[in-house]
Amino acid sequence: MNNFVYYAPTKVHFGKGKHREVGEIIKGYGYTKIMLQYGQGSIKKSGLYDEIMDSLKASGIEVVEMGGVEPNPKITFVREAVKRAKEEKVQLILAVGGGSVIDSCKYTAAGAASDCDVWDFPTRKSVAVNALPIGCVLTLAAAGSEMSSSAVITNLEFNMKRGFNSDTNRCLFAICNPELTYTVDKYQTACGIVDIMAHTMERYFTVCEPTDLTDRIAESLLKAVIDAGKVLMEDSCNYEARATMMWASSLSHNDLTGCGRENVLAVHQLEHALSGEFDKIAHGAGLAVLFPAWARYVYRYNIPRFAQFARRVWEVTESDDEKAAVMGIETMAQYFAFLEMPVRLKDFNIPRDCMDKLAQLCTFGRQRSVKSYVDMDYDVIKAIFESCY
Ligand code: NZQ
Ligand code: ZN
Repeated sequence: MNNFVYYAPTKVHFGKGKHREVGEIIKGYGYTKIMLQYGQGSIKKSGLYDEIMDSLKASGIEVVEMGGVEPNPKITFVREAVKRAKEEKVQLILAVGGGSVIDSCKYTAAGAASDCDVWDFPTRKSVAVNALPIGCVLTLAAAGSEMSSSAVITNLEFNMKRGFNSDTNRCLFAICNPELTYTVDKYQTACGIVDIMAHTMERYFTVCEPTDLTDRIAESLLKAVIDAGKVLMEDSCNYEARATMMWASSLSHNDLTGCGRENVLAVHQLEHALSGEFDKIAHGAGLAVLFPAWARYVYRYNIPRFAQFARRVWEVTESDDEKAAVMGIETMAQYFAFLEMPVRLKDFNIPRDCMDKLAQLCTFGRQRSVKSYVDMDYDVIKAIFESCY
């Protein structure tokens, strides 16, 4: 086990009805004026918007509203939000939504506390030292942004999707009521399941062993998510399955499943190139295609690890390690297909000749490689994209 720092400071308010406490929670910190961000309308349709506003009003919180965050949130929206947050002197940024809304709020919070352009954070021109506090009411179990240190944004000027990690990105509090996810459709539910699994598997497949306790936490999380996913495909309002998924979303990306291991999210680098270039592709759907393709390429560099994954997570009984490893990967791919996720890149209706562009984006124009079991340079990355077209 490597040395590590574990820091997960977000206060989680979990359970039924918890979102109605949002006003009280914010008031408890002494804040009286906030910016509220939300997405493209799901919270109005479900009635959540009214409940949030009622709670804020009852606690005397003044609200500056910025609705309309797009999935795969855009830097242009954030720039506008930063401007308003500064003008209005808001004290906290509240996200009501999924990962896109939370990430938009994270960039807004850091931008509002600095003088640089927000694109300077992911491009490493500036370091986020301060940020306004961020709170969230989670409506989608997927990205794990409610407890993560990451924030991902898309800049359509360059078709680039980039993230940065910082403690300033940690939410002060996260309100997680699984009931709020009953309205998430089958497709987004499945995207969330894949993303949660990917956050766990990415950390599981890094160069570092042994980490027995961390492995077993990861394996248990995966098994619980796989089972809950099967329930949700039949019964979208099953509270226990929604609750498992929501808690797993947070635990899969608050670093718990990576303690003592290296922290490289290799497949995420591939996926961010994909949904950066084609911004209508949902992050989880991209991962559903790319994760098996990546695994088929790299497993031979650590067969025992993939065999352990196959036996402990997918209950493969094959005694030969290599055969077991392959069976584990294929069972995972079948599970993603069962979730009705796309299987190949062409299912997204993207052109056959975009592989060079995707590999260029992923390697920042051949300026970097992505290191996992094997150092993935431009050629390897292009080959992986091609293998799953
Ligand atoms: O915009 P609205 O109308 O709210 O609709 C959203 C959106 O269309 C809908 N939705 C959310 N909650 C709903 C709901 N529909 C019905 N009922 C509800 N309760 O779902 C759609 C997708 O929402 P989005 O927030 O985009 O999904 P997700 O949570 O998967 O977030 C994806 C973004 O997070 C980034 C991704 O790259 C992507 O940009 N990630 C952020 C991470 C982080 N900050 O730690 C880590 C992840 O790996 C990921 O990269
Ligand atoms: Zn992810």
